[in-house]
Amino acid sequence: MKTAVISATGLWTPPESISNEELVASYNAWADNWNIAYATDIADGAVEPKTHSSVEFIEKASGIKSRHVMDKEGVLDPGVMAPRIPERSNEQISVMAEMAVHAARQALERAGRKPEDVDAVICAASNMQRAYPAMAVEIQAALGCSGFAFDMNVACSSATFGIQTAADFIRSGSAKSVLMVNPEICSGHLNFTDRDSHFIFGDVATAVLVEEESIAPAGYWKILGTKLKTEFSNNIRNNFGFLNRAAPEGVGSPDKLFVQEGRKVFREVVPMVATMIGEHLGELGMSGTDLRRMWLHQANANMNRLISSKVLGREATEDESPTVLDTYANTSSAGSIIAFHKHSGDFKAGEKGLICSFGAGYSAGTVLVEKTA
Ligand code: COA
Repeated sequence: MKTAVISATGLWTPPESISNEELVASYNAWADNWNIAYATDIADGAVEPKTHSSVEFIEKASGIKSRHVMDKEGVLDPGVMAPRIPERSNEQISVMAEMAVHAARQALERAGRKPEDVDAVICAASNMQRAYPAMAVEIQAALGCSGFAFDMNVACSSATFGIQTAADFIRSGSAKSVLMVNPEICSGHLNFTDRDSHFIFGDVATAVLVEEESIAPAGYWKILGTKLKTEFSNNIRNNFGFLNRAAPEGVGSPDKLFVQEGRKVFREVVPMVATMIGEHLGELGMSGTDLRRMWLHQANANMNRLISSKVLGREATEDESPTVLDTYANTSSAGSIIAFHKHSGDFKAGEKGLICSFGAGYSAGTVLVEKTA
């Protein structure tokens, strides 16, 4: 069996960013307008008034301070409360493919790889630009890669599932160089009028080049092992789909956007992921103390603190479990890859780390890597 490695990663960050203060001011203005519009119903006791969101709550409950977005103006406009991203013609590259291409180019440049040397492109994300043609095929064409391409969606776990899929192509010999990209416009599925979750997500694109060891550039990351897990849960859902396009009340209803039972997610996912990491380390004859760093999914700082504590048997330092969620928020599949991309330059040969994602499904994935010289 061939050995799969990570040759390089890429990151593209939208230039616009929204602070908690800006987001809360916009939500509160929307809530005040809503309360005026429904004043009679509120006075009759038919509906509850909307209460204000708070910057302090958001930072304490999640660790998020700001998030990058594709359209700041639409999100912050109390009359819109959503990104306004103009539709593009079929002759133009789609906006999500374009984001992925930026991140992919960076990964290819860092690996010294030409697009034509790539055998496969996997676009792994929690929301796709459209049903078909696959975004991955569009990205393949825009870059000039050869071989084949396809999209896959495992919500927040898409990137680790994508890495295992790419690594399996390498291990089996069906490809030597696989580009795995994660464009995420999470602001598109976020209900900015839901006080419980309006602060959670941000937009970004990441790329990971997974290759056969013999062709990888010096300093690559050897993939020691990958492990995936799914367990059905209704606690994180988005019911949007092609079968509800005909129901006007359906398309605009909150369940066609991201919804979650945040408390249950917290309670159920933390032990599931910590156990899975322990099992995966055990299978490879390793333990938490063998890890120089964990690049965990970036959904919630408190969740990450608990997971890393369970793995290490003590609280992890910021160096051992870095956070990017403060400035990126939850970027779904891309979160752990942003953390890996930004916080891996100081690794020495022989040091080991863990990329880990978790999210809707439930789904979770672990990728153990070792830095080489
Ligand atoms: N501003 C101010 N207060 C708010 C608020 C806001 N934006 N949103 C909720 N609150 C209030 C609630 O009304 C509640 O008040 P009450 O106690 O008087 O009823 C209180 O804060 C606690 O709300 P709750 O929703 O239980 O907060 P929480 O501590 O569970 O934190 C999450 C919420 C979403 C941050 C947290 O549950 C979480 O991170 N869960 C996991 C989410 C996750 O990772 N999902 C994966 C997505 S891929």
